[in-house]
Amino acid sequence: MKFFIDTANLAQIREANDLGILDGVTTNPSLMAKEGIKGYDAVMQHYLDICSAVDGDISAEVIATDFAGMVREGEELASLSDKIVVKIPMIKEGIKAITYFSRKGIKTNCTLVFSAGQALLAAKAGATYVSPFIGRIDDASWDGVGLIEQIVGIYGNYEANTQILAASIRNPLHIVKCAEVGADVVTCPLDAILGLLQHPLTDIGLAKFLADAQKMN
Ligand code: E4P
Repeated sequence: MKFFIDTANLAQIREANDLGILDGVTTNPSLMAKEGIKGYDAVMQHYLDICSAVDGDISAEVIATDFAGMVREGEELASLSDKIVVKIPMIKEGIKAITYFSRKGIKTNCTLVFSAGQALLAAKAGATYVSPFIGRIDDASWDGVGLIEQIVGIYGNYEANTQILAASIRNPLHIVKCAEVGADVVTCPLDAILGLLQHPLTDIGLAKFLADAQKMN
């Protein structure tokens, strides 16, 4: 399973990348705004900075919601680097845009996916990634990991090329559960990735080893 980090914060991206386990980055307009990135030039430069920091796929989201606008923005984003994946919302115009980019060999990430039917359409359009938002589904009292499992089953029936990118991850358990059901990718906040490191028995065991190591001096 690939690990992406879900942030536009360069310090966090570099910290995750330094672990040596990072395969890519996802951003969205909310995450970019949170970092105070404003204006066309600053946005483009920020994507370039992320591309320089990480060797992997970097999702950059279009703002337009019409086909022509998505194509224009997506082509500008894709021209920044081969690492850029054009992130497109799961709407009718978005499916048209994903089909367009797929035929041109430009990578896409179909975002804001909340049902198996939407995931089926994204794959049919040729999306490189489909992003079901499992945390937001859980927040609404549905089963986010259950949706990932359902999509894994459906894609498996047809050997779909679209990679299932579990998004809106809230905690380390979400990551483990996504791995259990066969997600291709998880995109996570840094805290959720670092949370995987934690176990009290590791801390207790290390403290004991270090204390005993003193006796070896
Ligand atoms: C996906 O690519 C989105 O950026 C993200 O995972 C949404 O997560 P949130 O529900 O925590 O905003």
